[in-house]
Amino acid sequence: MELTSLELDMLAGKHGEGVALAMKVQVGTGKAFYAKRMVPITRTHVAASAQEGDLYFVTKLLDLGARCVVSPTTNPSMDTGYVEEHLGPLTDEGRDRVQASNDAYRRIGATLTLSCTPELEKNVPAFGEVVAFSESSATPYVNSVLGARSNRESSISALCAAVTGRVPEYGLLLDENRKGEVLVEVEAKIEDDFDWSLLGYAYPQKYKGAEVPVFTGIEKRATPEGFVQFGAELATSGAVAMYHIAGITPEAPTVEAAFGGNAVKHRVTITDADLDRVREQFSGESGPIEYAMLGCPHLTIRQVGEVAALVDGKQLAVDTWILVSSLTLELAERMGFLGVIQRAGGHVVADTCMDIPGCWDAYYGRPGVTESQKCAFYCQVYGQRYAVRPLAQAVQAALAGEVVK
Ligand code: F3S
Repeated sequence: MELTSLELDMLAGKHGEGVALAMKVQVGTGKAFYAKRMVPITRTHVAASAQEGDLYFVTKLLDLGARCVVSPTTNPSMDTGYVEEHLGPLTDEGRDRVQASNDAYRRIGATLTLSCTPELEKNVPAFGEVVAFSESSATPYVNSVLGARSNRESSISALCAAVTGRVPEYGLLLDENRKGEVLVEVEAKIEDDFDWSLLGYAYPQKYKGAEVPVFTGIEKRATPEGFVQFGAELATSGAVAMYHIAGITPEAPTVEAAFGGNAVKHRVTITDADLDRVREQFSGESGPIEYAMLGCPHLTIRQVGEVAALVDGKQLAVDTWILVSSLTLELAERMGFLGVIQRAGGHVVADTCMDIPGCWDAYYGRPGVTESQKCAFYCQVYGQRYAVRPLAQAVQAALAGEVVK
């Protein structure tokens, strides 16, 4: 790699040992991907969720004197006050880790947004902007829907970018790697947000490669929430960091433009039967449930409004958790949705993720409902048994206390 004199100084420790460590990680990554140089970034998002490994790395950088030059937004951690009040206290170790994590990111210069949908609010890149975003739904969204440029960063590589202000130039930062290679002919009907999440999970089950797919046969643009869920599932079931939708996403005005001269390397067809297979895979068992977990990724204010309309004047039969950003919580209060949901017995909580060890132990091994395949997929490790339903059906299940096929 050719490094500028400033970058060589960073690597040599002239800007401190923390910067040197971050630069070492990035130069190593760049060499592994045959990057020729580093390029500046203007935004970062660090998908750290109070996990032990992330805390270790941010603490190490801090101890070595590093500070962010591009302040990253951060993933959710846990609202220790509200959730503990309702589910009982965390272990000391759990509470200490959440607090240490928030404290470490604050001290290194992150902006503690504590939300997994930075691409919708507070950290929204423009077309062509070079950024370093980690988080499954965020990376495909910024590349595909916004036309910004990010590789599929980890929480650690995104933090290194925040500290050095640059990234190695490879992968999706380069024009030639943003062109399509896989033609995906969608014959299935894609009508609502849930269909987008099914499509996102279904595609990698038919083709595992990380090449950029070009989806055709879709006439109606997804809502922002539909795009968020589509990207989250593409990156849960597979490793897709960028896609095109012909006639819809900005770098794909036509199928030809999306391929940009590339030959079609693979062809995939997605039918209603493929979507039904994913629906069935996550349908869970019919019968009583003990809780509902909604908002993985975080629900938007429109979705919170939908939930409020469904529960208005009723009582939820089971614990119902709605995970949102702090801005959405504030908006929910202003719009009156918060009061409606709370009167129905539901909880709207900011800053929190469904994958925080120690946070949701009360539900381990128990049946619940969610609107998110991602939530169901990752929580299997904790023995949480989720039935996945479209948002409105999940809320109906929470009102009834049971899921039906
Ligand atoms: Fe967000 Fe945590 Fe799900 S970060 S997408 S709530 S796993």
